[in-house]
Amino acid sequence: MIYNSILEAVGRTPVVRLRSLSAFGSEILVKLESFNPGGSIKDRAAVSMITAAERDGRLKPNGTIIESTSGNLGKSLALIGATRGYRVILVIDPKAPRSMVEFVTALGAEIEMVDTPDESGGYQWPRIERVQQLLSVTPDAFWPDQYNNPDNVRAHFELTSRELLDDVPEFDALVTAVSTGGHISGLSAAVKKELPDAITVGVDAAGSAAFGYPFSKYSMRGLGLAWKPGNLDHSVVDRVHLVADYEGVATMRVLAKSEGLLVGESAGAAVFAAVHHAYRYPGSRIVVMAADGGVNYLGESFDADWLRSAGLADQIDTAGITTPEGLIEAASRPANEQVPIEYGLTLAND
Ligand SMILES: Cc1ncc(COP(=O)(O)O)c(C=O)c1O
Repeated sequence: MIYNSILEAVGRTPVVRLRSLSAFGSEILVKLESFNPGGSIKDRAAVSMITAAERDGRLKPNGTIIESTSGNLGKSLALIGATRGYRVILVIDPKAPRSMVEFVTALGAEIEMVDTPDESGGYQWPRIERVQQLLSVTPDAFWPDQYNNPDNVRAHFELTSRELLDDVPEFDALVTAVSTGGHISGLSAAVKKELPDAITVGVDAAGSAAFGYPFSKYSMRGLGLAWKPGNLDHSVVDRVHLVADYEGVATMRVLAKSEGLLVGESAGAAVFAAVHHAYRYPGSRIVVMAADGGVNYLGESFDADWLRSAGLADQIDTAGITTPEGLIEAASRPANEQVPIEYGLTLAND
């Protein structure tokens, strides 16, 4: 296959069956979004948002794209900037994995580092403030606003879902990590049209406010948000599972050693939630979106010293999540969480 641009290589990612973690008579299938050229599911949203903005003139030729990102959307935008001739300014914070910063810099994007958190310890609101400042002083600037832009959701409603349903026409549950809500909202809406009985599970970081819980600090990258994003459509999410940092990170480490799958932290959290879902609904066929790959985190969550300094090593050992068997046992335990009455959702780990 010969492509005219690297952006044409976005999509058609593989789906892999988990052997060691498909417990309780379930089948867990993981769609590996790291196979996109920018290394994550964000390539799909970025191409959709930028192409729509080009079409209706919100983004001018040779204009500047400015966005707040924890890293992955930045990689996708950097790819688009390099191939379509835009200046790209990415507002990030110190939690962004180093390899992501190196990736976007190599492609010519500029970095704006926000290194002062707000009073709750988060960086996401200060990042948005910096975006607003930059927009006010940069001519021909375009802010994709991934949290509210419907073209983010549309990419998954129209394309990601078609691809998934072509590969896996029948399944019982869809498990995805949530931040902007883009992929869970688009995918779930499309999946429910074809498979009305499928249960959709939103996986969030314990501490994230995306589903309306009070915000507190968490360390996982990729999932979670300090506010409720406009793009998160609660009406298509059946269950919510809040995963602790140590559960998500431990799962990504087990996946690497037992399945040869190098996935990111949010994918670790999603697989942990999928194993819990299998425990609650034995015999299910479960699809998990693995939003990015583990290469982003090699010197960090996969590194023993980093894990100790982040305070996660002891928690992982105590929970026993170091082998597939230990993970399955840990994912079968109930967790003490509250039901988010506001949306009428049930917690997956009750
Ligand atoms: C690694 C990773 N996981 C999960 C998500 C959440 O995806 P969405 O923004 O579509 O909710 C993101 C988004 O940035 C991500 O980069």
